[in-house]
Amino acid sequence: MRFCRSDFPPDFMFAAATSSYQIEGHAYGGAGPTHWDSFAATPGNIVRSETGAFGCDHYHRYAQDFALMQAAGFDGYRFSTSWARVLPEGRGTPNAEGLDFYDRLVDAMLSHDLRPMATLYHWELPAALADLGGWRHPDIANWFADYTQVIMDRIGDRMFSVAPINEPWCIAWLGHFTGDHAPGLRDIRATARAMHHVLKAHGTAIQTMRAMGMSNLGAVFNFEYVHPGDKSAKTAQAARRYDQAYNHFFLSGVFKGTYPAEVMAGLEPHMPKDWQDDFALIGTPVDWCGLNYYTCRRVVHAEGPWPAWADVPGPLPKTQMGWEIYPEGLCDTLRMVQREYTQDLPLYITENGMAAAHDPQREDAARIAYLDDHLDAARQAMAMGVPLQGYTFWSLLDNYEWALGYEKRFGLIHVDFDSFERTPKASYHALARALSR
Ligand code: FCB
Repeated sequence: MRFCRSDFPPDFMFAAATSSYQIEGHAYGGAGPTHWDSFAATPGNIVRSETGAFGCDHYHRYAQDFALMQAAGFDGYRFSTSWARVLPEGRGTPNAEGLDFYDRLVDAMLSHDLRPMATLYHWELPAALADLGGWRHPDIANWFADYTQVIMDRIGDRMFSVAPINEPWCIAWLGHFTGDHAPGLRDIRATARAMHHVLKAHGTAIQTMRAMGMSNLGAVFNFEYVHPGDKSAKTAQAARRYDQAYNHFFLSGVFKGTYPAEVMAGLEPHMPKDWQDDFALIGTPVDWCGLNYYTCRRVVHAEGPWPAWADVPGPLPKTQMGWEIYPEGLCDTLRMVQREYTQDLPLYITENGMAAAHDPQREDAARIAYLDDHLDAARQAMAMGVPLQGYTFWSLLDNYEWALGYEKRFGLIHVDFDSFERTPKASYHALARALSR
């Protein structure tokens, strides 16, 4: 690695991230079914129809995972709690085993010197709520507030930070517009509702935790740096439309109390009743903002109804996901978020990393270079005045990469999905050396 810990301010946090459904093993401990289970059981949705039933067996092996994190010198662990593990029906009676599990998990983090950075929703909606309409249902923000209360009553006394929702765009757009993620809808009305309700749920959860006296509450968004894919004026407009929908819609809702005109041009007829009245809730103040960043996208104009865009492949080297490697976009995105939305609010990189096929001979060189280049970009942004306070690597472990199953390996630690054996990769060792200096 080209960097070491002492290149960053003394209180800068290095963390690694995972999420519940991707690693825990959803089959264990009395968790209820989620919409990812039904999505996976429907032919054609997921590579080899894989599910999170066994994940990385983190449910039983978390102490080993935290020992590896502690040995690498991480300061924090960004994890998520599963709504369906806490409340198998989404509402009603909590699952005592699930609450006990998160209680043990948090104690184990602390005993390994890892600050708990919780996310309350990383995509596995209880199937019972999906049956009622899931993110389309106007009451979902209240159901989410009740779940927030139940889980934080149990672990809220030990959190370093909490964000209610991971990546509103993916939940709403990939789940309801493109159908790539659960629940697999392709419906603009469902999309408009999900986009708005997800932000209302963010707001009710923040208010619930404030009322409990909790602090260091934030919001986590995902970003892609958008390049127009050709030089035409129509493409310039399409790229701007994409940028507004992907990178600005949710931030604008939370930090400005409004949605971008380019997006409302398509969604307004499909929005829930009286949506304009919800911005006081959506804009409930937060203490920090988290950015998930992986890649850039090249967008062109496409004939057809709104949003009338398509993407085209770019020339840069790509990861196992086919995502172009574009570290400059991280620096630009951090600066954009600070300039347009968050000003002095602390920022965290809450996810960054790359998938690479398992290849021990090549010693994980691509991942080490990716990490170096993105940490350079982060430092450049800091030198330009961005109040960045931490960097979180995605992911600690190879895991369940949603519709792409277990094939895409994002981990610093290799997982054998038959034996669940963990083997730290060269990037883990390089990172551990960098963090010790
Ligand atoms: C993010 C998700 C995370 C993982 C990475 C690769 O969008 O938050 O669960 O899938 O991408």
